[in-house]
Amino acid sequence: MTPHLELEEELVSVFRSVLESAGFVGGPMVEKFEKDFAQFSEADNCVGVGSGTDALRFALIAAGVQPGDTIVTVPNTFIATTEAISQAGARPDFVDVEERTYNMDARKLGEYFETRCFLDRATGKLLNRTTLSPVTGIIPVHLFGQMADMDPILEIAERHKLLVIEDACQAHGASYFSRRENRWKKAGSSGDAAAFSFYPGKNLGACGEAGAVTTNNATLARTVRMLRDHGQIKKYCHEMDGYNGRLDAIQAGILQVKLRHLSEWNEKRAVIARRYDELFRSRMHGIVLPHQSPQCKAVYHLYVIRVKNRDQVQSYLTQQNISTQIHYPTPLHLQRAYANLGHKKGDFPVTEKAAEEILSLPMYPQLEQSHQKRIVEEVINALADEAVPGRNPDLRRAAMSQ
Ligand SMILES: Cc1ncc(COP(=O)(O)O)c(C=O)c1O
Repeated sequence: MTPHLELEEELVSVFRSVLESAGFVGGPMVEKFEKDFAQFSEADNCVGVGSGTDALRFALIAAGVQPGDTIVTVPNTFIATTEAISQAGARPDFVDVEERTYNMDARKLGEYFETRCFLDRATGKLLNRTTLSPVTGIIPVHLFGQMADMDPILEIAERHKLLVIEDACQAHGASYFSRRENRWKKAGSSGDAAAFSFYPGKNLGACGEAGAVTTNNATLARTVRMLRDHGQIKKYCHEMDGYNGRLDAIQAGILQVKLRHLSEWNEKRAVIARRYDELFRSRMHGIVLPHQSPQCKAVYHLYVIRVKNRDQVQSYLTQQNISTQIHYPTPLHLQRAYANLGHKKGDFPVTEKAAEEILSLPMYPQLEQSHQKRIVEEVINALADEAVPGRNPDLRRAAMSQ
């Protein structure tokens, strides 16, 4: 049963109470959700906004990003990460990801600042050597539900006085063991601010569009509150140019109901991920399974495997009515939208190679064990199938002998 049917009564009662109050935008439901989500994410403040993209854009602007700045992120993310950078007037630049986690490679980030930037003594600004644009911030993306390696990223940011905005749109409730602080930290509580998306398919999803910024910086939170509401903190008193990026009361009420179940759903996802691991491991070696860093507790927004002949495997699975996805088929630096950045194939080889091989298998808390077994069976069949070039005969024998 989908969570919406399980929670039908509670969700409908949210709708009824908003209808009765006629307070559709903002109001007490939004405030209550903000308080609870801040607590869940172990951040001092949460500001509900219209989407994850709004959250990223408002966080960047509120943190002080200026038109013409450069913000460094990864090419292996959803385009909203870089759209928010461009919409804040800045220029996205990329560093490649780690081979095993698909998250920002902190070593390459360090190299980027050492080799591709210099400190302009006249202005005290860190400039990109090629574009001469001031590099002012980093967006690590916690992809697929696992946090990026935040300790070295934050160290680099401190060394160069850069802001850090976490893209936590896929990582509600994920955590990371900070060796610097000797404690576990939740996604959304490190750096200057974090952005969350509550798009329906996320671990915490609304019944429409929604997002939030979390931050420990009260001034930044206040600015995001203004930005989401036409620059006003009081009606018709505009302190800046802003946006229409508020959170609907109905969505906040729905998120409030679902937030109570989020930890349990995240645990179920982790159990399902372990089960996938075991089912695949006992059967074959031709698949690269997701890697959970020992410093991370992932919330498995997605369960992403890697296979050669990915496209054939995917179309075989589609024929078997198993729906899979690719996150993401074309890295951002090779998208036409960013042709102006002048990148070419080969610039970010880890991301490019991953894009050819990754495959997201079905992953949701209600995924039944029997269905999961069938998915694994069919992936193995796909790899063992004669129709798939480069098939491994050992795998085929293994599949047939089961
Ligand atoms: C990594 C990442 N960043 C940003 C976003 C943007 O969120 P939204 O779709 O709510 O604007 C998403 C959502 O898909 C995402 O996955």
